[in-house]
Amino acid sequence: MEVDHPTSKMRCLSFLSFFVAITVLARVQAAPLQIPDLTQCEIASASAAAGTPLTLYFNCCLPIPSTPMVDFSFDKYQTVQEHIRRPAHTASEEYIAKINKAYKLMKALPDTDGRSFKAQANLHCSFCNGGYPQKGISGNIPVQVHFSWLFLPWHRWYLYFHERILGSLIGDPSFSLVYWNWDDQVSGGNKIPEMFTRVNTSIYDEKRNPNVQPPVVVPLAATTAYNQSESIVTNKNLNNMYQSIVTASTATLFMGGAFRAGTDLSNSTVINAPLGGGIENGVHNGIHYYTGDPRQELLQNMGNFATASRDPIFYAHHSNVDRLWNVWRFDMPDGERFDHTDPDFLNAEFVFYDENGQLVRVLAKDALDSQKLGIYYKKATSDDLWINYDPPAKTNVSAVPAAIASGVPYVGESPLNGTINIGTNFSAIVKRPIEEKPSKSLEVLARPQPRTAQSIWAHSTLFLLQERTETLWPL
Ligand SMILES: *[C@@H]1O[C@H](CO)[C@@H](O)[C@H](O)[C@H]1NC(C)=O
Ligand SMILES: *[C@@H]1O[C@H](CO)[C@@H](O)[C@H](O)[C@H]1NC(C)=O
Ligand SMILES: *[C@@H]1O[C@H](CO)[C@@H](O)[C@H](O)[C@H]1NC(C)=O
Ligand SMILES: *[C@@H]1O[C@H](CO)[C@@H](O)[C@H](O)[C@H]1NC(C)=O
Ligand SMILES: *[C@@H]1O[C@H](CO)[C@@H](O)[C@H](O)[C@H]1NC(C)=O
Ligand SMILES: *[C@@H]1O[C@H](CO)[C@@H](O)[C@H](O)[C@H]1NC(C)=O
Repeated sequence: MEVDHPTSKMRCLSFLSFFVAITVLARVQAAPLQIPDLTQCEIASASAAAGTPLTLYFNCCLPIPSTPMVDFSFDKYQTVQEHIRRPAHTASEEYIAKINKAYKLMKALPDTDGRSFKAQANLHCSFCNGGYPQKGISGNIPVQVHFSWLFLPWHRWYLYFHERILGSLIGDPSFSLVYWNWDDQVSGGNKIPEMFTRVNTSIYDEKRNPNVQPPVVVPLAATTAYNQSESIVTNKNLNNMYQSIVTASTATLFMGGAFRAGTDLSNSTVINAPLGGGIENGVHNGIHYYTGDPRQELLQNMGNFATASRDPIFYAHHSNVDRLWNVWRFDMPDGERFDHTDPDFLNAEFVFYDENGQLVRVLAKDALDSQKLGIYYKKATSDDLWINYDPPAKTNVSAVPAAIASGVPYVGESPLNGTINIGTNFSAIVKRPIEEKPSKSLEVLARPQPRTAQSIWAHSTLFLLQERTETLWPL
């Protein structure tokens, strides 16, 4: 009887199938977001995040050009001239005329053109409000570019192509967006930039909050009362910048947690986004909330994703968010910080229209270096004020017994680990590890993923109880 000896050919085959199996396995495990099938458009919807339940529906389907989609490459989209984005409140009349002309031309394009203002606005609506189901995934799970690590790279790409289209429409390849320097509490950036308030210009939008027009300082957190004195609002703004950016020392805390193919964020909202990062959940949301018109059902336009980018100020707002990503990376007191390195972050795919109206496939990883894309920001010296902010300590000896008496739990005793059930309203007394307030950049109350410390701040009242002296440090 013959014994079966594997021939070298067979051995090769079995090795081959082994490697194929490994590759297939790797492919199943590596699951970055893919570009959806643009022919499979669904009606988008936007719901009230709080208060009376209300859902509105929007047709945000994107035009499909006759030419096939191309892949982005730095060669193909070479930067002819640098795009230098400056603070909107310092713009010259010459620039204001130029940006108005560019938006006028963009608004005059037919809706079927991907470069049109309508299609540009619909890019945001369709990928944020359920316009397209994810590809390669069973079930109908929408693409969602908010509430996770996709937020910053998607919006950087969005502005990149939007700016190229505006520049090409006026024949100026150096045309640059402006940034709304709302974090600037010293030289006038913290108001709606005057250039956007000129009625009937192409960068004006009538659906804006009448209570927050210049000279009113725009609060950076939706919890700030309207009519507090300017010094209180600016101080809170500095604190909010500090909490959203300086204390967000890791990529997850700052830019958000993992979104992979199949991640379903359809239950996330602006007031409950467990995977969202500090920049998004904090100050970014504050600006949307305060710019949107409270007379509209869903704070249109800026106050909800489906309509936000119908207001040209959106692109100036997001230029500042984009700028702050760089500030977070390179200008923090504790040194350089780092983006996510997970392949599912780096290889997430998005699609946009270029200045020829052609669809372009891009990857998140090609957006990580803004200068490589030709985008530069004029340094804002006002950054230092919030980077070096020292949150005020409030000493109130009677507050602790009062909180304990009202049932606020005392968590994290010896050592500092405790289980906390986080509801929508949550308060706790936490013993600080050391008596002195530690290094200002890193005082973060941490909790297990996926929820971040920032979402505690957004929804909770927290006390840090200093041992012995009973000093309260409100976060
Ligand atoms: C804006 O345009 C409308 C409609 O054309 C006009 O009625 C209104 O007077 C204009 N407002 C200003 C301030 O120019
Ligand atoms: C502050 O705003 C609230 C709500 O809009 C209003 O009821 C109140 O009268 C205002 N207070 C002052 C001092 O303006
Ligand atoms: C969304 O919320 C509903 C109702 O609470 C729940 O049944 C569903 O499982 C949630 N879906 C996801 C993806 O979290
Ligand atoms: C101190 O805390 C108590 C209990 O929370 C509160 O009623 C009181 O107004 C606070 N006093 C000051 C000066 O903040
Ligand atoms: C508390 O948490 C830290 C960090 O997760 C861990 O290293 C430590 O062992 C924990 N201590 C206890 C008593 O569970
Ligand atoms: C949460 O806190 C707010 C403000 O203090 C209060 O109006 C609301 O009733 C609280 N909700 C719950 C569920 O306790």
